[in-house]
Amino acid sequence: MIKRIGVLTSGGDCAGLNAILRAITYYAHQAHGWEVIGIKNGTTGLIKRPIETVTLTPSSFDNSLLRSGGTMLGSTNKADPFNFPNPDGTRTDRSDDLIEAYHSLALDALIAIGGDGSMRIMRDLAQKGNLNLITIPKTIDNDLGHTEISIGYSTALEIATEALDRLQPTAESHQRVIVLEVMGRDAGHIALAAGIAGGADAIIIPEIPYSLDNMCKKIKELWDNGHTFALIIVAEGAHKENGALATIEIEAGNRPRYGGIGQYISEKIEAMTGAETRVTVLGHVQRGGQPNALDRLVASSFGVRAVDLVFEGKFDRMVAWQNRNVVDVPIHDAIEQYQSVSLDDVLVKTAKGLGIYIGDV
Ligand code: F6P
Repeated sequence: MIKRIGVLTSGGDCAGLNAILRAITYYAHQAHGWEVIGIKNGTTGLIKRPIETVTLTPSSFDNSLLRSGGTMLGSTNKADPFNFPNPDGTRTDRSDDLIEAYHSLALDALIAIGGDGSMRIMRDLAQKGNLNLITIPKTIDNDLGHTEISIGYSTALEIATEALDRLQPTAESHQRVIVLEVMGRDAGHIALAAGIAGGADAIIIPEIPYSLDNMCKKIKELWDNGHTFALIIVAEGAHKENGALATIEIEAGNRPRYGGIGQYISEKIEAMTGAETRVTVLGHVQRGGQPNALDRLVASSFGVRAVDLVFEGKFDRMVAWQNRNVVDVPIHDAIEQYQSVSLDDVLVKTAKGLGIYIGDV
């Protein structure tokens, strides 16, 4: 008999996390009378002593939390328990502490909300410590396999599209080429979808090689056809023409922090076409703010299904959205099948059909 479930949010935050926590808490309480223990700051709450938790009940959620960004539990993307950072800069394997905390809290199951990195770590922990684990996919990058939707992506896409809507009139007024750099790490889903929805003239993503010559040819064609401005959207993980990544820093664990590809492209366009250019880097704006209706809807459905899986005793599963339905898949399969943009993606075909320059395919 399940009595007590833990829940945590891990990795980069995004819009829709509080909606998931609300759904889990409401359903676990109302359908089963279970206790829900929220773990603070991702896995860190289980490593710290005393263990950092908060009991979640339906009354923990006022009316604003369904609508709010961020995560009421806090999160981290820099505290791998197998390689945990110490204040002096050294690292220690703290996985045993985390496993001990799970058992000392007498948790019957743990629902972890995270992206591919967090899920990999959580699964390794579950296997090592015999934890009953269910995961829920969230990432604005939308790069987890076996799910059409990860929480946060839809809202981020809307924000990036709105950015293009706001940049278009100013680009036109000043006859400029404006380059918008968006997040997405190694997957170009946000750039591709927002580029189409927001009327970009060129979309540059990590998955498709491009040439500056051909991009500039496209801009000159626009000028020849009477256009006076252009909008370019580029994913942060797109490479420079020489194959190098634009990075701000390499963080511990060799994880690059991306940034600068928008500036690079804009300087090249200015030099090669003579057009005046400007760059906007959208950054963490894409992760904040109110979740849109789709993110709230899928978040709520994922939360309810995750509790059902705990009830059914079906562990080591990730809830997923497929064909307008919530299903569950092995966590292993979701993290093994990285979902980047494929060349036969309908949106690649759509962009090409609209005459958008999307690289040399
Ligand atoms: O994975 C989500 C994401 O927002 C990426 O799109 C981005 O590269 C990264 O996280 C940024 O991480 P941080 O919050 O550490 O700057």
